Amino acid sequence: MKISVIGTGYVGLIQSVGLSKLGFEVTGIDIDERKIKKLNSGISTLHEEQLEEELKLFINENLKFTSSYESINDSNIVFLCVGTPQDDFGNADLKFLYSAVESVKKYIGDKPKTVVIKSTVPVGTCRKIKEILKDYPVEVISNPEFLREGIAFKDFFEPERIVLGVENPENIETINLLKRVYNHFEKKGVPFVISSWETSELIKYASNAFLATKISFINEISKFSDIVGADIKTVGKAMGMDDRIGPKFLNAGIGYGGSCFPKDVKALGKQFESFELESKLINATESINQTQTTWFFENKIKKYYGDVSGKTFAVLGLAFKPFTDDLRESKAIELINILLKNGAIVKGFDYIEKARENTINKYTLSDSKSLGYSLHILDELNDTLFNVDGIIIATEYDFDKENWSELKNLVNNPVIFDGKNVMDSKTLKSLGYTYFGIGKN
Ligand SMILES: NC(=O)c1ccc[n+]([C@@H]2O[C@H](COP(=O)([O-])OP(=O)(O)OC[C@H]3O[C@@H](n4cnc5c(N)ncnc54)[C@H](O)[C@@H]3O)[C@@H](O)[C@H]2O)c1
Repeated sequence: MKISVIGTGYVGLIQSVGLSKLGFEVTGIDIDERKIKKLNSGISTLHEEQLEEELKLFINENLKFTSSYESINDSNIVFLCVGTPQDDFGNADLKFLYSAVESVKKYIGDKPKTVVIKSTVPVGTCRKIKEILKDYPVEVISNPEFLREGIAFKDFFEPERIVLGVENPENIETINLLKRVYNHFEKKGVPFVISSWETSELIKYASNAFLATKISFINEISKFSDIVGADIKTVGKAMGMDDRIGPKFLNAGIGYGGSCFPKDVKALGKQFESFELESKLINATESINQTQTTWFFENKIKKYYGDVSGKTFAVLGLAFKPFTDDLRESKAIELINILLKNGAIVKGFDYIEKARENTINKYTLSDSKSLGYSLHILDELNDTLFNVDGIIIATEYDFDKENWSELKNLVNNPVIFDGKNVMDSKTLKSLGYTYFGIGKN
């Protein structure tokens, strides 16, 4: 079976390497030629655990990368994994997707094919793609991706469910070819949900919006908890012991970021609007998240110092979550920008080297260039903490494992602002730190 994967970003690269590990002949296609060159030399273009080691095993064996669409002609299955970022109005921007579909159309040939949409797309998109490809022997299948960056490889091999949306759920013969690709998962007992295109497309948005809503919910409660002196960590923990609620995504913090939740929540709200509906819940989820980092800065950091101008801060964690280099909509970056705009000096650190590199590039190459002069990205935690007036935890790493007793000797003022509520406040206080978390002091 020959497979083409279009778009070799966080989703497409994992998909390409994962499928080649399952023994398929895979061609990854991307318009970014620099990426292609690196990938063909066995160098990963992004940080994901295991990825580079696995890439090296299969490259030039049953895996190759190219910027040409020619392999489509010979492929049985084509996975579309291009980005669907947010446009200026909050809608999903489908320009990369439709451009990729047009390129597929050019090379489609006469051989029957299954075109699988893994990109997150608004409800109704698969129907439109089928219309574009109606003159060709093509089945269009919606197969939303649920991987989590940081543990994406594990998620590829151990998915919790596989959702397949088809034109006619009564006639599931159309998924036979794809089922052969996913046979490995079927044998392992992974549940398959077969539905219409629209249902499948909505499952993805509803899942992300629900998780984001859980986060905004606990963040909203944390502000009340803060005022009444309740411990939000215990509130979230005890809530999560209820099976109906579940323990995950109930940790208060500076809000959700990343390449999916922010844009998908907004895009779902926009889809409601396009049908003249208003989702008050989704809009609230989004607006709570938008103000959460500023709330943290104003009510915790600024309140403590009065004025942060000229003060130096260590911001620990740069990417939007642990074990990735992805800075898209990172709350750590939002916080850094707030600090810099308020005249602070920032020393940033992330355990992942590529996250540090990406941050340097971001402030060297982009609009934030002028802000970057007061920002220093350091490779070592010790150097980051040296002489700072405050420490800010901005990514959900287990920073608690560090030796805070020794680290205290490095700082100018031992005060920690825990934007992710990951630290053990009791221990820190006993070591002489002043500690500010969210939802309790
Ligand atoms: N990143 C995640 O954790 C995640 C998880 C689930 C779903 N998704 C969804 O998957 C999709 C891809 O996300 P991502 O994070 O991998 O995006 P990404 O930005 O990391 O990668 C997209 C890739 O597509 C390439 N591309 C753009 N136009 C192309 C074209 N016409 N032909 C070939 N390549 C093209 C880009 O160069 C880029 O390498 C999005 O719809 C996203 O919402 C992402």
